Parts: sequence; C-alpha cells; structure tokens
Amino acid sequence: MKFDFDTTPDRRGTDSQKWQRYRGRDILPLWVADMDFVSPPAVIEALHRRVDHGVFGYARPTKSTIEAVTAAFETRYGWAIDPAWIVWLPGLVCGLNVTALACSSAGDEILCLTPVYPPFTSAPGNQGRVPVPVPLRLETEAVPATTGRWLIDWDALEHAVTPRTRVFFLCHPHNPIARVWQTEELVRIAEFCARHGLVLCSDEIHCDLILDPGNRHVTMAKVSPDRLITLMAPSKTYNMPGLGTSFAIIADPALRARFIRAAAGIVPEVNALGYAACEAAYRDSEPWRQELLTYLRGNRDFLLDVLAREIPELRVEAPIDATYLAWLNVTAMRLSKPVSHFESHGVGLSDGVPFVDSPGRHVRLNFGCSRATLAEALRRMKTAVSAAR
Ligand SMILES: Cc1ncc(COP(=O)(O)O)c(C=O)c1O
Repeated sequence: MKFDFDTTPDRRGTDSQKWQRYRGRDILPLWVADMDFVSPPAVIEALHRRVDHGVFGYARPTKSTIEAVTAAFETRYGWAIDPAWIVWLPGLVCGLNVTALACSSAGDEILCLTPVYPPFTSAPGNQGRVPVPVPLRLETEAVPATTGRWLIDWDALEHAVTPRTRVFFLCHPHNPIARVWQTEELVRIAEFCARHGLVLCSDEIHCDLILDPGNRHVTMAKVSPDRLITLMAPSKTYNMPGLGTSFAIIADPALRARFIRAAAGIVPEVNALGYAACEAAYRDSEPWRQELLTYLRGNRDFLLDVLAREIPELRVEAPIDATYLAWLNVTAMRLSKPVSHFESHGVGLSDGVPFVDSPGRHVRLNFGCSRATLAEALRRMKTAVSAAR
C-alpha cells in the first residue's frame, strides 16, 4: 500500500466533534460519520498552495474545479453533467432542508425509507413539513440472519402517499444500512415518484464508497433525470466534511430556479479552501480512494469476522455494501440504552433511535478508523456484551 491508513493522527484536543464528545474520558469514538484518516496528499498540498496565496476573498469555483467534478462523474458513473446544473452548497443537510422548502409548502409531507440518517426526518420538521417514514423490510426467510437483505416495502410506500405528499428523500447508498440500491429498484422508485407527482431528492454522498469491486453505484440521474435533485459531496470519501463543500445537481431549469430561490439569502457560499480541496480530491486522488476502499473492505471483513466468532450477540443483519458504517442489531443484550452501556465500557456508538428505530434495537458503528482502533473497540465491546449477560 502506498498510503498509510494504519497510522492516524491523535485527534484528542483538536476541533474534532467526534473526539470532543468524550474529552478526558477513555472512550473510543465510533459515532459521527467522519474517518480518522488523513485526507489524500493531493488535497493537503492543494490546501497548502491555497493558504500560501494568502487572500481569502469571496470565492466561486474556477473552471478547473468544475471540470474536476464533471470529469469524475463522467468517468465513474457515465453521467455527463452540464456545469449549469450545479448549485454549490456548504453541506448536504442544508441541501435536504432547501429541497423541503423549495418543493413543498407548510404541512406537506416528505417520504423517506427508515431507518435513515436523522436529517432525513428532521429537515422536513425544521421547515414546517411532515416527515413520513416508511420502514424498510428485512428479508431473512430461507437465509441465515447474517445474510438477510433490506428491501423496500412497496405496498407500505404506496399506502404512505396522501394528497399532501410532495417529495421523496432517497438515501443512495443508504445510511445506516449500507445498502446500494440496484437499477431495478431505482427504476421502480422513479416510476413511483412520477406516478404520484413527487420531486425525488437523491442523497448520494456515499456513492464513491462502494466496498466491493463486483458492486457499483448507479446514479439516479442515469435512471430518471426528471424532477430530480441529486445531492453530492467529496466530504465522506476524502474525509473533508469540516470543509463544508457540497453541491446539488439539478438538470430541470425550473426546479433548479426554485431550489436557488429557496436558498437565497440563507445559504452561504462555499469557502475558498473547500473549492481547492474539492478539485484536488476529484481530480488527483483516485489512487488514494482505491486504497481507502481496500482498507475499509478489510475493516468491514475484520468486523464481521470478530462479531461472528466472538460476539454473536451483535448481529449485522445484511451485507455492508458501502460506507464505513455498520448497523448492529443489539436486541440480544436486552438493554434499553445500549449506547450508555457501551460508553461505560469505553466505546462511543450512535444510538439507533434518531434513525427511526425502537429503543434498544440497533446501534451504528463507524469503522472509518485504523484497524488497531477497531480491534481495541471490539475487544471492549466484547467485554461490554459479557457484562450484560
Ligand atoms: C446520507 C448523508 N447525507 C448527508 C450527510 C451529511 O452531510 P453534510 O455534512 O454535508 O451536511 C451524511 C453524513 O453522515 C450522510 O450520511
């Protein structure tokens, strides 16, 4: 390996949200979705160059930044993006909120599939809209529970539609269940949205983190570009969410105009450092991304192996196709607050409840860390599980 993912800087005492939560306590933070790895060398060099320039006025992307983005999507996903379709944003959560504002009115309903990243349900609420969670179905019949499959409950989805439904928020790949939606499913989602006159908002922030070479991301825009808002960012892949650089891609001019109008005066510009980092990430960091995927695949396999052999009480119910997030079923522990229990044994996880899950059912583990940190966290989790027996 050319890049060293085993060695991670000490983030204690820094501005890291992930590590600050447990300041002064011996708790390994495996919660919020950023990784402990240093960003690609090309990104760091680009930031150095930009800082050395020394002037930090209001920024707009240069031609080369836009070309880096469009070239990456053309190469990876066969998607030819017209630069005019791109609306830069300081974050994707911001994009979900702007979509809610732009595409619905107060009291209107926004669908999503749950469990899901909490802003999918909080964004509609923030904007006076009503989130309508439709539970995914875990198919486990005729297969061992560890190789189940999360599926869309199409009947439940149909039943969830009312005259007030306006938008469908899709998470693709889906956080926290780490599922990559397949073309047949995407076609059916697009057809469902068209039939009910819904705007489809596809959050594809994790699309560059497909773990297995045999699997691939099909961008929703290739399936159905109409009435579609795609949300993207280099932030998860290149570990730069603190630089606040994301974008919406909206081919439909009328929809794009509505989106821009809803954001006007509220959503700030992306910062100069973010543009520099974004360009270097998409254009110059592909070898790093490929090695990252190998490392994350190794972490995932290590995690699954340790759980299966040593901590069978913690079950990953379906394959982890993408992301560096594992959704662990902890019901066997019979605890109402599993996260507090793991914290008391030195591991900080995300509770399932904000993802629209029942208390005590799931926790989410972030394996975007060194193998050594993951191994130590699992050792502590094994002790935690034994203590709960
Ligand atoms: C699906 C999804 N969307 C958006 C975000 C966050 O986006 P941002 O930090 O750009 O607001 C995350 C972070 O974990 C995520 O998993």
